[in-house]
This record gives sequence, structure tokens and C-alpha cells, in this order.
Amino acid sequence: MLTMEERQEIEAKLAHYPNKQAICIEAMLVVQRHHGWVSDESLRDLSALLGLSVADIDGVATFYNLIRRQPVGRHVALICDSVSCWIMGCERIRDHLCGSLDTQLGGTTADGRFTLLPIVCLGACDHAPAMMIDGKLYEDLDKRQIEEILAHYD
Ligand code: FES
Repeated sequence: MLTMEERQEIEAKLAHYPNKQAICIEAMLVVQRHHGWVSDESLRDLSALLGLSVADIDGVATFYNLIRRQPVGRHVALICDSVSCWIMGCERIRDHLCGSLDTQLGGTTADGRFTLLPIVCLGACDHAPAMMIDGKLYEDLDKRQIEEILAHYD
């Protein structure tokens, strides 16, 4: 269920959009910011609030890969696997992360601390390989940095 705070945030943003369809992604990001992901229940509430069908909103969520439709850990690490990062060894970074956190890409650690997800280009190609944790970008990664970076997240 959408909280009052989420509703108010979404309604405040509505004034800046030409119609309710246009705010669809932003509304899901509001929900995701509060819960970490967008549940079926939240989707139904958004449907009622925005006057759009659940299928239409879910279609947008499916297309836009930054909307998460599954529960995630307390922190989400997005690991770029696009061409520049691949050339610069993102597979080594991914494998080191997976080994260190004892989970797989797409998985969540047993303690719920991290979810590791692949992403297409973080826009830091000139500083590949790159990853993003909870919106913070890490560039020019090498395996030595990983433990130090992970230690910042409880
Ligand atoms: Fe990885 Fe662009 S290819 S940031």
C-alpha cells in the first residue's frame, strides 16, 4: 500500500508533468526509494492513483531496467557489463564481488546486505570498469578496492 508520504511526493510531482502517463516512471522511483522495489500491491495503488492500467505500468517497469519488481537487499550494487567495462575487465570485478559476498549476479546475500545486479553502461566508460552502489558511482575499479568499498555499507 502506498504510504501517505509516497502519495504526497507523487502528487507534488504531478504538477511538473504534462499528464499522469508521463509521471509513471518517477512515481515508481518514489515507491522504490521508500521500499527498495515496487511490489504488485504498490503497482495496483499506482494504477488507481494515476488512472493507468496495472498492465501499462508493469509494462513500463519491465522496459525500464532501473525499476525493480523483486525484493532487494539493503544495498544494491549495479555492475556495468557493457563494452568498455567488459574490455577493461568487469568480469574480474564481478567474480570478485560474487566471491566476496557469496552470491551470484542477480542474487542477494544471505544476510540481506547486498543485491548484485548487472546494468547497461553507467555512463562512466572513460573510467571503466565501473559500478554503482545505492546511487554512488565507483570508477576505475580493481579487485583491491572492492573490500574497502564494501566496508562502507553495513
Ligand atoms: Fe561501463 Fe559505460 S561501458 S560505464
